[in-house]
Amino acid sequence: MPTYCEAENLANLIPRITQVLNDSAISAEIIVVHDQSPDGIADLCQTLSQSSPLHLITRENERGLSTAVIAGMDAASAEILMVMDADLSHPPETIPELYFALKNQQADFVIGSRYVNGGSTDETWGWFRKFNSKIATWMARPFTTVKDPMAGFFALHRQDFLNAREILNPVGYKIGLELMVKCRCRNIIEIPIHFTDRTQGSSKLSFKEQINYLKHLKRLFEFKYRNYAYFAQFAVIGCSGVVVNLMALSLLLNWLNRPVAIAVAIWISMSTNFLLNRNITFSYARYAPILKQYLGYCSSCLLGAFFNWLTTMVLCSSITYFEKRTLLAALIGIVVGMTFNFILCRYFVFSK
Ligand code: GDD
Repeated sequence: MPTYCEAENLANLIPRITQVLNDSAISAEIIVVHDQSPDGIADLCQTLSQSSPLHLITRENERGLSTAVIAGMDAASAEILMVMDADLSHPPETIPELYFALKNQQADFVIGSRYVNGGSTDETWGWFRKFNSKIATWMARPFTTVKDPMAGFFALHRQDFLNAREILNPVGYKIGLELMVKCRCRNIIEIPIHFTDRTQGSSKLSFKEQINYLKHLKRLFEFKYRNYAYFAQFAVIGCSGVVVNLMALSLLLNWLNRPVAIAVAIWISMSTNFLLNRNITFSYARYAPILKQYLGYCSSCLLGAFFNWLTTMVLCSSITYFEKRTLLAALIGIVVGMTFNFILCRYFVFSK
């Protein structure tokens, strides 16, 4: 439970959770992560821990909901991890439903959802809050189709968390979305809950956190779709290489014999492609030693050219349809060669 200035709520919530755990025979540890809340939380937790399996973590120099959740997960040892707010917004009575859904239904991730059938929020939500929530939910669409990706009440397997631990870098509030995407959760179940507005204390969701959400979406986008973005840039640069090649060839033919002119034109376009890919497509690797990269690039292009040639030849000689359609076969060959080049560049020449 990420917690900042929630002593009043915790005094009510921890006994309720403990009761639920006892009633459903779930053996669990309640980890509360607070960031030096100046509200006597340490003394309160000391008292509560006499009747509850409570573990308080105090972070000295850090703030933030998402990183607090990660700190709590790092400290947990159970096989199933569950996260909920400390402000009584999420009904602790639903804990067993989430827990058993994850355990028994082979789910990767379970959400206590406000927006699935049967779920709800307080009637007091004004149109602006509803609109804000809908827009934020809609903006998460490229990453998941669940109805409530913004939820702060969810459960997952600890092993999935550990597998993704190194690549977690959330900014802002949406740790659930971060985990769903980075843990590559496929089978996600939503359990309906009623989301109650807090009655004690105040929300820490500021305008800055809304901006952080946009930054977070950008990071997730780069994470999930980066290979498509790289490939698109690689393809555009590949097309520019065709133009460079033809222009160079038409000039060189004035001075050199044809076989040499063709070879030099290929080398020029290969070199301009290399420089553009190094500085644009794979700019993350532009500080690596250039000569080694260049040699690697040229060798990988030679292999790509070979696969291009091979594909074209195989299509023309073994499929009747392509016998008289050499150009079409060559085009397919170019795509195959380019894809091959791309894979070699991405994972070997310009590897991180
Ligand atoms: N440790 C720590 N550090 N905890 C924090 C911090 C922080 O900087 N900021 C917030 N929390 C804790 C709060 O004490 C609370 O238990 C929980 O995180 C949620 O924070 P709220 O400030 O109450 O969030 P909210 O009610 O506006 O947002 C709710 O709705 C979102 C969905 O729209 C929460 O349920 C979010 O988790 C949820 O994503």
